[in-house]
Amino acid sequence: MGEFRDLVFPSGFLWGCAVAAHQVEGNNTNNNWWKWEQEGHTLDPSGIACDHYNRYEEDLDIAKKLSLNTFRTSIEWSRIEPKEGVWSDKEIKHYRRVLEAMKERGLTPMITLHHFTDPLWFAEKGGWEKPESIDIFARFVRKVVEELGDLIPFYNTINEPMVYVVLGYAFGVFPPGERDIIKALTVAKHLLLAHAKAYRVIHEVCKEKGYPKPKVGVVHNMMVFEPLDPNDERHVNEANTSDAIYNRWFLESIHAGAVQPPAGQGEEFEELKGAWDFIGLNYYTRNICISSPDPTRRFNVVPMDAELTDMHYEVYPEGLYKLLVSLKKYGKPVYITENGIATSNDRQRCRFILRHIAEAHRAMREGVDLKGYIYWSLIDNFEWNEGFSKRFGIVEVDYKTLKRTPRESAYMYAEIAGKNKVTSDLMQKYLGRK
Ligand code: GAL
Repeated sequence: MGEFRDLVFPSGFLWGCAVAAHQVEGNNTNNNWWKWEQEGHTLDPSGIACDHYNRYEEDLDIAKKLSLNTFRTSIEWSRIEPKEGVWSDKEIKHYRRVLEAMKERGLTPMITLHHFTDPLWFAEKGGWEKPESIDIFARFVRKVVEELGDLIPFYNTINEPMVYVVLGYAFGVFPPGERDIIKALTVAKHLLLAHAKAYRVIHEVCKEKGYPKPKVGVVHNMMVFEPLDPNDERHVNEANTSDAIYNRWFLESIHAGAVQPPAGQGEEFEELKGAWDFIGLNYYTRNICISSPDPTRRFNVVPMDAELTDMHYEVYPEGLYKLLVSLKKYGKPVYITENGIATSNDRQRCRFILRHIAEAHRAMREGVDLKGYIYWSLIDNFEWNEGFSKRFGIVEVDYKTLKRTPRESAYMYAEIAGKNKVTSDLMQKYLGRK
């Protein structure tokens, strides 16, 4: 008997990779991130990025060759609606071709409608701080679904609303660079209601148009929060508060159909009720909680002996299991919409992927209705403030030539996706005792 057993996944399980428009396309000159980059806040500007805008067929060919059956990407709002209320037919056609290219390759599209970037005109009007943002976003969503909805079976409304809020409005390290809790709570509430409205609009339009009924969900980043010292009340409070706000607030508000504290007082909204067909979980790491008056110091604290990624995140696969189990109470199917590692050591990436998939499988054995695993990312790309310095891809991008080269982890992942299982041999090879 070896140390490992085969981990078999149910048929129809989705295996994929994710990217996001701004991080791979290049030349998204008309959004708030481009401006943020020009102001010098990021290690590099996104520039031409991976030129995925022109090379999407090549990237989708790679995804297909790797036996993947789904691909998660986003539609860039600032391309579709370059000026308020003005639609770009050229860009709509572009995304239609991208969606068709996925279909031709047997890749189920999972489409994100908002992935951190806002059109410049929207940001300049006050962005998500304004209550009108909800309807303005809904108008864009309606347009996308009308034009492209025949080709989209899965929608992610808003990517990681709490990351957007915390980094943009509490820590001030993402645009618009605010540190203002009142604004943060306002934006959180508007994103929540925008999600709910988008959910309704997507289903309405698909019905009107006779498109196949899609699945619409949130994509939520969660972290495990644990006190550094379980006997120190301040550490315990910090962990509980972070969990309640960062991990739970958004989900609990949808679950209850009412805006929960601290961004509301339990006001009910008809549109919020049942506004999800699935939960998308993005999982990267655990955060050890200490107490410090500076909120940014409380972020990214890791145990002394932790294995770290190039983002200085702790590798903590068990956290994925814990969080998946914690989602059971909502009674919705779950997709891991992102899980990944920045590392210059691809063997570390192989181990990371295997260990996380094994934890996901453990959660399924305990009744979690997990339907897919999507690795972040297919290709190295523009990692926001970190520029191009952090490499998440199972496929390497040479930024001088833009040549794509699959890494060993790509072939390893392809084997899992192709067989719909993780064999004991594969685990023995990468995780076995030496
Ligand atoms: C997520 C985000 C992605 C990607 C990833 C890696 O929070 O959705 O855009 O950057 O993290 O850090």
